Amino acid sequence: MEPQHFAARLVAWQRRHGRHDLPWQASTDPYRVWLSEIMLQQTQVSVVLAYYPRFLQRFPTVQALAEASEDEVLAQWDGLGYYRRARNLHRCAQQICHAHGGVFPRTAQGLQQLAGIGRSTAAAIAAFCFGERAAILDGNVKRVLGRSHALPAPVSAAAELRALWNLAERLLPEHDIQAYTQGLMDLGATVCKPRNPSCLQCPFEGDCRARQSGSGATPLFDAADGSSAQQQARDAPVKPAKTRRTQTWVLLWAENAQADTASIWLERRGATGIWPGLWCLPQFDSREQALRHAAQLGALTEHSPRPITRHALTHLDLQLEPLQVRITPTPGARDAGGNWFTLPAALALGLPAPVRKLLQTAANLAKLQDAQAVAPT
Ligand code: ADE
Repeated sequence: MEPQHFAARLVAWQRRHGRHDLPWQASTDPYRVWLSEIMLQQTQVSVVLAYYPRFLQRFPTVQALAEASEDEVLAQWDGLGYYRRARNLHRCAQQICHAHGGVFPRTAQGLQQLAGIGRSTAAAIAAFCFGERAAILDGNVKRVLGRSHALPAPVSAAAELRALWNLAERLLPEHDIQAYTQGLMDLGATVCKPRNPSCLQCPFEGDCRARQSGSGATPLFDAADGSSAQQQARDAPVKPAKTRRTQTWVLLWAENAQADTASIWLERRGATGIWPGLWCLPQFDSREQALRHAAQLGALTEHSPRPITRHALTHLDLQLEPLQVRITPTPGARDAGGNWFTLPAALALGLPAPVRKLLQTAANLAKLQDAQAVAPT
């Protein structure tokens, strides 16, 4: 298919059948578009729709975001996952305010120099906001281009990526870059889906190389290389089903025995690993380790396990075993990478979802107990 035909058909399809009412499409303000693109990197549109307006209400400008504390940004991001994105978002806002006079660079090349903005995201922002002819290549677009054009078998993953970028560049239209870019996104998300693609609704139905080489009636193309899922299933060696790993984490739930209002000990996690930069109950492999750590915070008066909860990460199932202790703190312990927080103060921090759930339950219970204590008998 000639590049100009590919683009013309995609643009016409986007205008008739694409998405036009997503909140970030209402503006070409790079702050709003950038925020949406970062949120959409690893999160579905339906989830982002709930977070995007709330985040914008709290941080209406790049300046407001740059001036906020990292904790506040993480707290607003809470639930979107992949917190590195939120930390880069904050850093990027500060770079724009401190090194660019509060104004976003107007080219994909310039945008790509900023924290958390890769080649495809930079291109999407430049195309949507400034009309630049820049190629995007996220996971959906790789699938659309890989299927429609069925590139020759690559010698390596790096060669495949290079070929896809070259193709994405070659296909760029002279005009209508916004509709074209949105069309690629829309087609990948709504028609050319990973499983059960709706080929009959596709503007490339007659020309799609993957469809042409597929097995007729059931259009089950499932691979970026354009081969059909059925063919792949036939060719694939029989592999044992993948089992997910489970890890048990003991979480130290230390309460301050001296504080007037219930306070708990939280520590900020490191910049790498799971939940980077978030505040968390200290995590250990065993109760003994947790109790040793508790003893460093102060004198231990009592301890008891709380109910076990489970939490699924992308590649790992966590079994979380909170161990509750009461502590009379040793002065200076707050230097040990953590601090005592009342429950409301803790809930205003950036917390991993399961820790937030635990603390929210405790806060609700405390409220209930307070209400019962003052209720007339
Ligand atoms: N995924 C990534 N960017 C998107 C956008 N602008 N609209 C819809 N889905 C997207």
